[in-house]
Amino acid sequence: MAGSISLLEFSLVIFIQIMTHCHSSITTCLPEKHAALFILGDSLFDNGNNNYINTTTSYQANYPPYGETFFKYPSGRFSDGRMIPDAVAELAKLPILPPYLHPGHVEYVYGVNFASGGAGALRETSQGMVIDLKTQVSYLKNVKNLFSQRFGHAIAEEILSKSVYLFNIGANDYGSLLDPNSTSVLLPVDHQGFVDIVIGNLTDAIKEIYNIGGKKFGFLNVPPIGCSPAIRILVNNGSTCFEEFSAIARLHNNALSKRLHELEKQLKGFKYSVMDFYSAFSQVFNNPTKYGFKVASVGCCGSGPYRGVDSCGGNKGIKEYELCDNVNEHLFFDSHHLTDRASEYFAELIWNANRTVTSPYNLKQLFEL
Ligand SMILES: *[C@@H]1O[C@H](CO)[C@@H](O)[C@H](O)[C@H]1NC(C)=O
Ligand SMILES: *[C@@H]1O[C@H](CO)[C@@H](O)[C@H](O)[C@H]1NC(C)=O
Ligand SMILES: *[C@@H]1O[C@H](CO)[C@@H](O)[C@H](O)[C@H]1NC(C)=O
Ligand SMILES: *[C@@H]1O[C@H](CO)[C@@H](O)[C@H](O)[C@H]1NC(C)=O
Ligand SMILES: *[C@@H]1O[C@H](CO)[C@@H](O)[C@H](O)[C@H]1NC(C)=O
Repeated sequence: MAGSISLLEFSLVIFIQIMTHCHSSITTCLPEKHAALFILGDSLFDNGNNNYINTTTSYQANYPPYGETFFKYPSGRFSDGRMIPDAVAELAKLPILPPYLHPGHVEYVYGVNFASGGAGALRETSQGMVIDLKTQVSYLKNVKNLFSQRFGHAIAEEILSKSVYLFNIGANDYGSLLDPNSTSVLLPVDHQGFVDIVIGNLTDAIKEIYNIGGKKFGFLNVPPIGCSPAIRILVNNGSTCFEEFSAIARLHNNALSKRLHELEKQLKGFKYSVMDFYSAFSQVFNNPTKYGFKVASVGCCGSGPYRGVDSCGGNKGIKEYELCDNVNEHLFFDSHHLTDRASEYFAELIWNANRTVTSPYNLKQLFEL
């Protein structure tokens, strides 16, 4: 199914091709407040880039039952339907963004998605299987060069400075702290030291984008990674979340907040938004019915306890898998990733939650700055 294209995405290609007729007078073709959205990160954001790289099915979701609800075909999204960037684009009144590696997409005036399932901030994370963060940033540079060729340097700069760069990265880096010989044990490395290296590499990516004109940066912090069905089953047969693993996410989130606050002081014009995914996720997880879900800890698609065995689609070495009857009752679609419905909920928080959840700006405010 890789390479197939939905009607929705086809319309987008046509729409963007029409836009190209504006050429150098692009500013008169786009609304004055036009801002593009660029997506960077991992499988929570990847909308099909991994369909086009040499990797394994473990890093891909371009087979059924992925995509069954919203797009009605397996586009490569790690979800039954939309993911967070799709819902955010919708709230920003942008078209659904294409994956950067999709052949045939040559215009990116509304933005594009660079994310890659399995990626981390570190080059070593899933090395050789994914598009690492540094490479994702280099793709953004290609896009800027394309804008410069088409519209001239000044307009390219202007597009980049008005655009929003939305990141979800880090969880996979911390996956490498699980001892491969006994996955329920964390490696005896200095966790704070490791977090500092992850944040250091994320900072490098932010600065590279800033240096080519980016000013507005959005982030999700790292959720309680010990609570996904795949991770919780590593300890106590899944009876609780893997608390020591989630503790690393909290170290990351403190370091991220501190670092962004510093960057705001150091870099002229730098503005940011952080959605506290850790807290927002925990609230839904601990009280799903309050948020309209029925099942928080058990995935919809997979096998074994909590459907925590990553077998959704029967394509990753294990053929048998179960699929729930009502995906909208679930927070998790497979053993790691959110459902369409959960993605929509968190996208709303990114877009317009108050400062207790998304701060210092929410994404709507960031777009309008
Ligand atoms: C894809 O990766 C595999 C394993 O890493 C390698 O053997 C193969 O040559 C690669 N194929 C291409 C087309 O690069
Ligand atoms: C895991 O076990 C293999 C084989 O016994 C060993 O070579 C390797 O160093 C171990 N890895 C870790 C991280 O302990
Ligand atoms: C980035 O990660 C590498 C390991 O991939 C590490 O050696 C380096 O120190 C990190 N950079 C920063 C600025 O922390
Ligand atoms: C773990 O859970 C499975 C399925 O729920 C059960 O069959 C098994 O006996 C449990 N193992 C332990 C050690 O509790
Ligand atoms: C912010 O939003 C949360 C969740 O909707 C709500 O509980 C809280 O009262 C709000 N805080 C303020 C200061 O408006």
